[in-house]
This record gives sequence, C-alpha cells and structure tokens, in this order.
Amino acid sequence: MTDDIQINGGGKLRHLLTLENLPGELVTEILDRAQTFLSVGDRKTKKLPLLRGRSVFNLFFENSTRTRTTFEIAAKRLSADVVNLNIATSSQSKGESLLDMIDNLVAMQADMFVVRHAQSDAAYMIAKHVPKGIHVINAGAGSHSHPTQGLLDAFTIRHFKKDFSRLKIVIIGDILHSRVARSQIHVLKALGVNEIRVAGPETLVPETLSDMGVSVYNDVDSAIKGVDVVTTLRLQNERMKASLVPSAQEFYEKYGLTKERLALAHSDAIVMHPGPINRGVEIASNVADGPQAVILRQVTFGIAVRMAVMSLLHE
Ligand code: CP
Repeated sequence: MTDDIQINGGGKLRHLLTLENLPGELVTEILDRAQTFLSVGDRKTKKLPLLRGRSVFNLFFENSTRTRTTFEIAAKRLSADVVNLNIATSSQSKGESLLDMIDNLVAMQADMFVVRHAQSDAAYMIAKHVPKGIHVINAGAGSHSHPTQGLLDAFTIRHFKKDFSRLKIVIIGDILHSRVARSQIHVLKALGVNEIRVAGPETLVPETLSDMGVSVYNDVDSAIKGVDVVTTLRLQNERMKASLVPSAQEFYEKYGLTKERLALAHSDAIVMHPGPINRGVEIASNVADGPQAVILRQVTFGIAVRMAVMSLLHE
C-alpha cells in the first residue's frame, strides 16, 4: 500500500487508510486539532457547523460498539448527515459486490465513507474506486490497521504523559492478530517513542515482530518493569485459525494484567485498552476499574480525534 493515495501532492490528507509512514507532523496536526474539539463535548449544544450539508456513510461489515458509535457522534457534532447502513439487511445478501454497493451510495451523493471490514484492503480498494472529492476512513481492517484507534491511543498518551521521547510503553496480549497493536506502534514511532515492548505467548507474540522495531518479550513480568504506559489487548479468537493459547484461565495466570503485575510498572503508569475488555482473561477487574485505568477516557477522546480526522479530510 502506497501512502500517496491518502496524502495528496500538497501534503494534505485525502483518505485515512493506515498510520504506516504517516508523517509525525501530520499526526501532531490531527492530535492538536482533536485537542480543540475536546471541549465541544462539555457544551450544552454539542455542535459545530464544519460538515453541515455533508453526508457521511458508516459501513460496518464487522461488529463494533465504540468505533461505529463515536464516528456517528463525531459526524453529528460536525453537523453532517449520517447514514448507518445495516450491512446484515443490505442487498449484499443478494450478491451485490462491495464496489457496486459503493457506486450506488456515491449516486446518493455520499461525501465520506467510514469503513470497517475483515478484509485488510477493503477501505483501500474503495478509496481507489471513488471519484475525487469523496473521502474514505478505515475504521478497522482485518488484523492490518485501525488508524483512528492508533490516533486516539496517541492522544490519550499525550494527554497524560506529554513527552513521547522519554516514554517506555508495553503492549500485552494477542499482538499477532491485532490491528490496534500495529497502528499504535506506527503512530508511536512517528511521534518519537524510543522504547516499545510487545509481550505475550510465543504463539501470539513471535520474535518476527521485532521487524517492526519493537522489543519482543514472552515473559510479561520482565516486559512490564518500569514502563509508563501499559496497553492490554484481548484474544482475537475470531481471527485465529487454530487455538493458540491453552485456555483463558491459563492465559490470565501467565499474561493477564493483575494488580501485582501492574505494580512492576512505573508507579504513575496508565493502563489502556481499546475495548471490548474481557475481565479475568487479559485484565483483572480491579485493574480495569482501578485508578490507573484510562480506558473510558480513550472512548471519550475518540470522539474528538474522529472529529479532527473528518474535518481535516473535508478541508
Ligand atoms: N476499539 C474498537 O475498535 O472497539 P469496537 O470494536 O467496539 O469498535
């Protein structure tokens, strides 16, 4: 995937498909803009006119709670008209191809598509297909990328920790199948984080991940020592072709984020999770609900970050 499809010759964002190779300055511009939108949520009238008269189509071919809803809220806060296409009851069941469906939605004068799909290149294919002036945002593509999640993760870290260059960050769990892990690693590298660790069982955190410029640990206790940020990820059972962990209980005992494990991190470390969380599998309830968890703040920040992306694309 080349990034010229998502950035035009003038360096402006045309689509948001991946964070891989997205310049740090552009990431910072998105985060700075999101910062200006954060207070809109505290107003009595949570509205700005930036996308007034524009039509945003949410196309979620995979389930979602946070991403779909916060994209809808973000678009509505920017005064766009939002269409949530119910894929299960759409004419896809009658054999309509993805691109034929897109052509019909373009004929309905769509301005922006927000796409979640199990196929890694679905959003990219749509971006290549649509006429100029229509924007595509990847809202989660297979195990490949989830760019707005990576951006909201970076926004959350910046909110609590400020200086990226000094941070030690660990991502624990099923890294192999995680689009969240990939996007978080790409964005943190763009922002200058020097020490990124990934940790979990060898079947889900293979040594080959070090090609991404991260340190690979199969012992979580060693990986978590002294870090400033801990992200835990659920087991992506729906993407595993075979069972890659013995049992949820054994996974929790060896790799779950318990209070005892978290005590090995820096005393003011924050705990993040993209959701949905599986209590007692990758994270203990008293950690998910504890004082260091910023999991629900991530969700709120996601609205401002998605507003920032949509408003930048529209310019
Ligand atoms: N973080 C995330 O993508 O959650 P959803 O699957 O609920 O959108």
